[in-house]
Amino acid sequence: MLTAYNKVPLPSFMYGTAWKKQDTTRLVEMAVEAGFKAIDTANQLVHYEEALVGEALLSLAKKGITRDKLFLQTKFTPVNGQDHRTPYDANADIATQVKQSFDSSLAHLHTDHLDSYVLHGPYSRRGLGKEDWEVWAAIEGLYDSGKTKMIGISNVTSVQLAQLCERAKHKPMVVQNRCFAALGWDKEVREICKAHDIIYQGFSLLTANVEFIVGPEVREIAMRLKAGPAQVAFRFAMQVGMLPLTGTSSRQHMQEDLQAERLTLTDEEVRKIETIAL
Ligand SMILES: NC(=O)c1ccc[n+]([C@@H]2O[C@H](COP(=O)([O-])OP(=O)(O)OC[C@H]3O[C@@H](n4cnc5c(N)ncnc54)[C@H](OP(=O)(O)O)[C@@H]3O)[C@@H](O)[C@H]2O)c1
Repeated sequence: MLTAYNKVPLPSFMYGTAWKKQDTTRLVEMAVEAGFKAIDTANQLVHYEEALVGEALLSLAKKGITRDKLFLQTKFTPVNGQDHRTPYDANADIATQVKQSFDSSLAHLHTDHLDSYVLHGPYSRRGLGKEDWEVWAAIEGLYDSGKTKMIGISNVTSVQLAQLCERAKHKPMVVQNRCFAALGWDKEVREICKAHDIIYQGFSLLTANVEFIVGPEVREIAMRLKAGPAQVAFRFAMQVGMLPLTGTSSRQHMQEDLQAERLTLTDEEVRKIETIAL
């Protein structure tokens, strides 16, 4: 378990449900049965089927894996990340959009609270603008109401995160970013997270870094550990303090990915992977 500055425990590995389409229900059930305890989704039909995650939760509850045993994270996606199926009134003010999207997420997921609620991405490309502060205030309001145990932000730059940490009423407790080896595995953002006791969630660890994952350095470490390169990548992420997400659709890979928790890389191996693309 990991904890951010507000001390809410978060499982150390997360199953991501993007791009699963109609297979979402089956795959979420499979992932939870394989051992994943944290699920990531978003109220955004372009990439996610949040309601089908909810279907899986109903089915799991019938088998005894109830809501209280799982960590549920979903996102508010601004209008610019939605298509015509926006799950709120796109003409309403931002606070109303967040409230409507949050309530719709609770309905989709058949729950009265979330464990983590994440802003899918800032409105501004550089720095934070008026809309970003408005949306963050609405998300802080949900945290203050107790309807979500953590709040976070995704697709954020180091400059934006530093501003948020400096000026927000509540700093994010989680950050979810695509993690490129070429950027030292998002080192600048991770360092801010470390300094503020924020949990860094890394996604696309495999897909954003294929050339390194299949390269000789990772392969050599995998051979020493009698593991696969994907397992080495996930274990590396954990050893540098990240919470990795996996988006696998394969039962075997789910099991393999979870077993990464049992591996141990040496300090030198961690350093080697951390600087593999620099
Ligand atoms: N906040 C955002 O904007 C954002 C954006 C993108 C993603 N995400 C989140 O992050 C999650 C994960 O993203 P991702 O799908 O890009 O992650 P990923 O885990 O890097 O990529 C998944 C790919 O890795 C393969 N894979 C996984 N485990 C493997 C293993 N043990 N051996 C070989 N191949 C393996 C999968 O293939 P198989 O299916 O064959 O195993 C799949 O093709 C998403 O579902 C979503 O929840 C968030």
